[in-house]
Amino acid sequence: ETPVLRTVAELRAQVAQWRGAGETVGLVPTMGALHEGHLTLVRRAKAECRRAVATLFVNPTQFAPTEDFDAYPRDEAKDRALLATAGCDLLFAPSVEAVYPPGFSTVVEVKGLTRHLDGPFRPGHFAGVATVVSKLLLMAAPTHAYFGEKDFQQLQVIRRLAGDLDIPVRIVGVPTVREADKLALSSRNRYMTPAQREIAARLPPLMQALVTRLEGGANVEAVLNEARGQFPGLGFDRLDYLELADEATLTPSPHPAGPARLFVAVWLGRTRLIDNWPVRLP
Ligand code: PAJ
Repeated sequence: ETPVLRTVAELRAQVAQWRGAGETVGLVPTMGALHEGHLTLVRRAKAECRRAVATLFVNPTQFAPTEDFDAYPRDEAKDRALLATAGCDLLFAPSVEAVYPPGFSTVVEVKGLTRHLDGPFRPGHFAGVATVVSKLLLMAAPTHAYFGEKDFQQLQVIRRLAGDLDIPVRIVGVPTVREADKLALSSRNRYMTPAQREIAARLPPLMQALVTRLEGGANVEAVLNEARGQFPGLGFDRLDYLELADEATLTPSPHPAGPARLFVAVWLGRTRLIDNWPVRLP
């Protein structure tokens, strides 16, 4: 059984004891409803650090009023059992009041990196993420912290805030864990009906075909425009974006300066799928 702590004071005391003994501590922030993607982060933390600490907090400030905060799946007992199988040493699962006491007034906002992709479609989302992750890093004071490339924009935002705020932690990005049909694992996949799940399965082959064409030197704008038009016929609902962007700046461009990725966000009923694939442009 992975022990659970609820207060910041208890968390600090435990991590201080470990770090005082010279041990490394890997932090894995999550919102629970854990799946193999989360558990891969925990196993990686445990492989690289002496101690692995997970956090479970469904962060209200990163959900817009129209989003699924109340409906977000919660099952702490099951999550604890899964964390134990992955070798997690400690779970920090605070109440909303412990994280945001009355009078809480501070916001961490990362500019630039949040200007495109998910930023405009989810106003306030990255400020909520950046604020809570800053707090979690300062509360837990780990040596390492692990985040998935599944949420690539989030990963880059977190790298930026840790650097900008001089938080002494090594941020580690972990490749996306996928189902057998390559759909990226997500806590929100459980919202889908079986029929929607079949439509969702069309996304990975489409993305892989686009990557192949882009890597073959096809015209970027032409390929993306054609693909944008294919989503309705494949059974998807609204396409928020399909963009090629530079990994470092996350600014869409047909000719990224450095390593690039293909980013997508598309709706299927009330489920919003996001994914990204690396592209080695010629
Ligand atoms: P959550 O969606 O629970 O994800 C927790 C971590 O697991 C994130 O770093 C996310 O990128 C990673 N993850 C999710 N699905 C993954 C997959 N298929 N493969 C690899 N990693 C995956 O992301 C959040 O929570 C929150 O925004 C949080 C960072 C905890 C702040 O509230």
